[in-house]
Amino acid sequence: QELKMNLEQIEKGGYEHFMLKEIYEQPSVIKDTYRGRLHANEGIIQMSGVEDNLEKFMNAERIIIIACGTSWHAGLVAEYVFEEFTRIPVEVEYASEFRYRNPIITAKDVVIAISQSGETADTMAAIKLAKEKGAFVYGVCNVVGSSISRETHAGSHTHAGPEIGVASTKAFTTQITVLTMIALRLAKAKGTMSNTDFHRYLLELELIPEKVKEALDTNDKAKEIAAVFKNSNNCLYLGRGYNFPVALEGALKLKEISYIHAEGYPAAEMKHGPIALIDKYMPVVVIAPKLGHYDKIVSNIQEIKSRSGIIIAVVTKGDTQVRELADYVIEIPETSDALSPLITTIPLQLLSYHIAVMRGCNVDQPRNLAKSVTVE
Ligand code: G6P
Repeated sequence: QELKMNLEQIEKGGYEHFMLKEIYEQPSVIKDTYRGRLHANEGIIQMSGVEDNLEKFMNAERIIIIACGTSWHAGLVAEYVFEEFTRIPVEVEYASEFRYRNPIITAKDVVIAISQSGETADTMAAIKLAKEKGAFVYGVCNVVGSSISRETHAGSHTHAGPEIGVASTKAFTTQITVLTMIALRLAKAKGTMSNTDFHRYLLELELIPEKVKEALDTNDKAKEIAAVFKNSNNCLYLGRGYNFPVALEGALKLKEISYIHAEGYPAAEMKHGPIALIDKYMPVVVIAPKLGHYDKIVSNIQEIKSRSGIIIAVVTKGDTQVRELADYVIEIPETSDALSPLITTIPLQLLSYHIAVMRGCNVDQPRNLAKSVTVE
């Protein structure tokens, strides 16, 4: 027993939980994921799975992304990125819904299946269905040799290393990294992005690990905020555009490990329902970097404030406007809109982690959840 404990301590590398270790690994695993693929100075993205099947991607009339859980959220981020960069229409589907609804798939569709474990039963079944209907299926998996890696026609692995914590963290950011690189490569091939923008994105992507490192410095702030809200019963997460899926992921992280009811919403949809929930007991986490829809999100924040909601805002360093309105702010480094989910997601992971620890929850193995869901 003692030996087992020691072994586990070693595996956790000095961190109290696997989840925290995995959160802190993100700068290095994002780098591992783009290493050898992203050549920013030369202006090249090279991914063998994409190169070997470039024709299929180029002729795709539609991209359908299938996944479950956190991987589905990465798919939603990818939807925004692919459509903006490549102008290929994208649909993102829960694998479990897709497989049971007689979906319309043709040989002109490219299906991208995202799975950390590569073993999720619903995702696997959806892949088989898409193959039957003649689609080309591309995998984005973290586990080499996994069932999904083998079942897909081709793919690109994420290099997150083993993820032990049931709540996915580093798998999510490495999935976004891979999907962004695929989108950039296709944008280049299709000519849907200017050379200047292409180069700028490559250089920016290369800087992401440094910025994630900086974003990890929000840990103390996240802990401080966690102490205030650890006894909340509900929490709302809002974001727009690229950061709408981050709001969903932030809420999922909180509910799965702390058992606090949390919901993610596109900020503008708040007025169609969730606004009714807002009162002085309702913490609202707003992802509000100074990007794309900043002005819109500022007015969403005003709407919450006028109903006495409590605002926890994730803002760009140096922001003043949101700071004036928010009760708590978490500052993150600046980056472009399309890459911002890689940064904005970090403080939300930390916030959930600390709240769960303070509530005495089993962070790495939350009740009722499994790391890989091999049953339907
Ligand atoms: C489970 C895990 C989640 C994961 C989801 C999809 O629910 O607890 O963390 O996001 O399965 O798993 P996959 O391995 O396919 O990404």
